[in-house]
Amino acid sequence: MPVITCIDDLKQLYKKRTPKMFYDYAESGSYTEQTFRENTSDFVKIRLRQRVARDLTGRSTATTMMGEAVSMPVALSPVGSTGMQRADGEIKAARAAAAFGVPFTLSTMSVCSIEDVAQFSPTPFWFQLYVMKDEGFVDAIIERARKAKCSALVVTLDLQILGQRHKDLKNGLSTPPRLTLPNILNIMTKPRWAFEMLSTPRRTFRNIVGHAKGVTDLANLNAWTNEQFDPLLTWDKVKRIRDQWGGKLILKGILDADDARMAMDVGADAIIVSNHGGRQLDGALSSIRVLPSIVAAVGDKTEVYLDSGIRSGQDVLKALALGAKGTFIGRSYIYGLGAMGQAGVTKALEIIHKELDISMALCGVQKATELSREHVLVPRDFEGDWV
Ligand code: GLV
Repeated sequence: MPVITCIDDLKQLYKKRTPKMFYDYAESGSYTEQTFRENTSDFVKIRLRQRVARDLTGRSTATTMMGEAVSMPVALSPVGSTGMQRADGEIKAARAAAAFGVPFTLSTMSVCSIEDVAQFSPTPFWFQLYVMKDEGFVDAIIERARKAKCSALVVTLDLQILGQRHKDLKNGLSTPPRLTLPNILNIMTKPRWAFEMLSTPRRTFRNIVGHAKGVTDLANLNAWTNEQFDPLLTWDKVKRIRDQWGGKLILKGILDADDARMAMDVGADAIIVSNHGGRQLDGALSSIRVLPSIVAAVGDKTEVYLDSGIRSGQDVLKALALGAKGTFIGRSYIYGLGAMGQAGVTKALEIIHKELDISMALCGVQKATELSREHVLVPRDFEGDWV
């Protein structure tokens, strides 16, 4: 067993242990993957300001997100098909997050259902909603989330039409994988994955199966979004969902200050600055690059969170310094899950926590809540001078 010291170590192990089509699904951006790459490379451009001779006792990464206490401002993002990365993946990730004291967000397109996760998670989780054309389905799934005591609803706004990821089409991605000869040969090299997957009854999109009417091709996300996702998701619909839910509402997929203001107008309790991990509009700016403009627009009225590109505690530090009140990780915990199951998700959280704590200390900061613009060095042209 290799010594795991960083998120990239988990990624290498994940790659070895997971069927190719699911590794590729996680590790892709859309089209040329420019936005996917820049989500991480733009973090590298920001530097940290070393400060010395400070009191570094009593350090803490604890804060709150949506009024809930968190051990560090790092929530787990909703990730579709997590239960294909490792058997019962959503349950394992939710349990690891609960034990660590950070929020877990369950995707509509999850393998384990809301009810499955509610049964096994010791604490309430957040539920992410994809808005479907079938209003009956939407109303029912909101009620299911309420019944499961989900403490926030995360409505994703940037995936009513699916961005094209070349590898998924080439691999014939499906949940569960079709048993073609290349798939069988590949899965034979992943015995742990196959054994665990055969040992669980949870192998389809269980939030959907048995709940949605007239679904003809559930295995394929591409066909499913074309058929079911509502291309008429407007701010008015968001208001309808807000009223139907009545609880804490997070809007995910905001990448523009004007949209952030619209999100405030419809009463969002928080927004997530996100380009869906570079999986939707290729050519869009990285999340960290647009964060300052969105914080300037609405940061005094709402909690602004960031996802897309966080692979270390230093990235978390940089996002907080630029005004985010919290961050979300997707791939960083999926690597851990695919590598080592629940223990791997815990490992990913430990790695990020330790990196955040040590880096804060070396910047002369005791508390994550004290991080601000003065702790980082940002190139003058970082946000860009666009016309
Ligand atoms: C779904 O959320 C995806 O990005 O594949």
